[in-house]
Amino acid sequence: MTIKQLYVAGAGLMGAGIAQTAISHGFDVTLREVDDNLVNRGVENIKRRLDSLVQKGKLEAAQRDAALARLHPTTSLEAAGRADFVIEAITENFDAKRDLFKRLDGICREEAILASNTSSIPVTRMAAVTKRPDRFIGMHFFNPVPVMPLVELTRGRDTSDATLAATLELSKALGKTPITSLDYPGFIVNRMLVPFINEAIRALTEGLGTREDIDQGARLGLHHPMGPLELADFVGLDTHLYICGVLYEGLHDARFAAPPLLRQLVDAGHFGRKSGRGFYRYGPDGARLAD
Ligand code: CAA
Repeated sequence: MTIKQLYVAGAGLMGAGIAQTAISHGFDVTLREVDDNLVNRGVENIKRRLDSLVQKGKLEAAQRDAALARLHPTTSLEAAGRADFVIEAITENFDAKRDLFKRLDGICREEAILASNTSSIPVTRMAAVTKRPDRFIGMHFFNPVPVMPLVELTRGRDTSDATLAATLELSKALGKTPITSLDYPGFIVNRMLVPFINEAIRALTEGLGTREDIDQGARLGLHHPMGPLELADFVGLDTHLYICGVLYEGLHDARFAAPPLLRQLVDAGHFGRKSGRGFYRYGPDGARLAD
């Protein structure tokens, strides 16, 4: 199957990152958000990132302009009718994804593949709300999408070999290295990442070290680019809490249970970098503030 036209639903951090990656690799991308403000914000973020690559001499201005010409912002769901491949990257919430996939299933061409960027929701459960569970797959990117080389592919129970093959091919065409996972809670990466972050939060709660000590420990002792607390802020504490819930419900293992401090920060509206405060404080541009 030749995939040329992509439709990305959701222009937040992940959706805009996926769209940026795809237009930079020659794909035509329709990027959809629910209203003009949100879609414009997504497009502005993509422009800013591409401009910065031009300023650093990593991209020609003409290449940036050609990539942007392949980006088609929209608020229309019906525009998905032209797509060969749809990537859903909306909020990590099953009800919202279910409603969207039901509508997309009615709009998309019969041969089009539907993919979800979910980091934790069972792919089989989402596929089952459509009439095309054989053409449905999990395609989990990592933040920041243009930088992170991995994509984690998950077959639902009825995903066909042809759908997996087409998605593997697309992943490589997007410059990513795919791995495949069974449809188990958290797939492969979050199965490892969630207990790691939770243990760091418990260590902080027990006073084992300061937040800086804990993050330095992982950065300098394990060679991680970010410590677990700053990474949790980067992912979003609300998102991490949601993922903990899915893993705990699916695996009934205390390692995945949300630490009380995480829940308290989310209750307080401290979602991490995106809200300006989490384990650390951030300015409007996302830069860390001293406090
Ligand atoms: N979007 C696009 N590009 C970005 C970016 C963003 N949000 N943030 C940084 N970059 C780019 C920069 O432009 C820069 O590019 P060049 O090398 O081409 O100049 C490069 O990334 C490095 O950026 P910086 O020099 O500004 O900063 P850094 O060296 O500290 O790297 C980082 C920043 C790439 C985010 C690095 O800290 C990192 O890799 N952190 C870990 C990220 C990670 O683990 N992500 C996975 C999270 S888990 C997840 O996403 C899935 C889930 O289900 C929860």
